Amino acid sequence: MYNFALTTRIKSTGTFQEFADETELKDTDLILTNEFIYDPFIKPCRVKCQVLFQEKYGAGEPNDEMIDAIRKDIPENTKRVIAVGGGTVIDIAKVLTFTGDWKAEDIFMGRLTPEKTRGLIVVPTTCGTGSEVTNVTICELRQMKTKKGLALDSMYADLAVLIPEMVHTLPYKFFATSSIDAMIHAVESYVSPKAIPHSEAFSEKAIRMIVGGYQYVKENGRDSWTDKAENFLAASNLAGIAFGYAGCAAVHALSYPLGGTYHIPHGEANQLMFAAVFKKYKEKKAVGKINQLEAIFAEVLKVEPEKALEALYELMEVILERKALREYGIKEEELPVFTDSVIEGQQRLLRNNYVSLTRDDMLDIYRSCY
Ligand SMILES: NC(=O)c1ccc[n+]([C@@H]2O[C@H](COP(=O)([O-])OP(=O)(O)OC[C@H]3O[C@@H](n4cnc5c(N)ncnc54)[C@H](O)[C@@H]3O)[C@@H](O)[C@H]2O)c1
Ligand SMILES: [Fe+2]
Repeated sequence: MYNFALTTRIKSTGTFQEFADETELKDTDLILTNEFIYDPFIKPCRVKCQVLFQEKYGAGEPNDEMIDAIRKDIPENTKRVIAVGGGTVIDIAKVLTFTGDWKAEDIFMGRLTPEKTRGLIVVPTTCGTGSEVTNVTICELRQMKTKKGLALDSMYADLAVLIPEMVHTLPYKFFATSSIDAMIHAVESYVSPKAIPHSEAFSEKAIRMIVGGYQYVKENGRDSWTDKAENFLAASNLAGIAFGYAGCAAVHALSYPLGGTYHIPHGEANQLMFAAVFKKYKEKKAVGKINQLEAIFAEVLKVEPEKALEALYELMEVILERKALREYGIKEEELPVFTDSVIEGQQRLLRNNYVSLTRDDMLDIYRSCY
């Protein structure tokens, strides 16, 4: 039995100006963005909204202290939050739709669910998270040294606007990390036990578009990714719809301590875990849904099904090199600590595993990446 809905309206415009004109931005709207996005794309449009720059509140992906500091600066009369940025800006904006005098840690730990009284419009500027269509927000909790995801239906954006020109300025490194994240959303949701034909259709289309784009980049060089920016942006949105329904799983769960403790960017941390998790899945349950996934990759990568996942790992490695965990300064004795923190804090994700993983399996996965 299932109940599939597309809660967020999705539209695409040619330019930010077009979006600003159609949306009638007002002085009760607050744009949360980065200055390097504001200057070329938003400033020339002379919109009347209030603006906050996320990077003024701290570097890197969201943490609870950053969100608390931004909340204090939000003008009282703000009626809509307009997020223009990558997953970092979008995930912060989702929490800022809550009014009141809350602390982010209480929200992420489920101790408090404040009232949502502001609208949310999202313009993604990376091609990865799909956060513009999910009810999920992810935050590093400084005290706990890990990342925590929170899913609340009140956090769906009212409108997601895909504007390909805004993605073009993304440096290669962040194209790579964010698109790898989208690929992993598509793959994890495809083999999730919660997958249904509708989410599978979104997963599969995203997989085909991203692999096609990666093959183009492999043949034409790193900078050529911008020729396919529109496809990567659409694919990350499709993957967002897929995992928004069927969920992400062990790859994301095991990556969170790496992001939370060593600040490895989300997509890069996922890439470090991806091949090892899928090798373990294959070892534990060689026959099952994973064979349908292999058939898709075999077709698009033009290899035999039994070689399809290896071919995928190789292609992903061309896009973003996979380093050993030790190269990030991670200590071997931390691996059991990471494993226990995943078991304790990431059950929301582990529930969606293709096959269930024991503590020893997870520790093995970390060790094989060390
Ligand atoms: N809510 C969800 O459903 C969901 C899903 C996956 C990931 N996430 C979260 O999203 C975050 C990662 O997001 P991301 O991969 O989009 O990266 P990001 O938002 O952290 O951006 C990466 C870097 O690129 C810069 N940048 C963004 N857009 C740019 C542009 N157009 N031009 C130039 N520079 C630009 C950013 O300032 C940053 O320095 C993580 O915190 C992750 O946990 C959330
Ligand atoms: Fe992700």
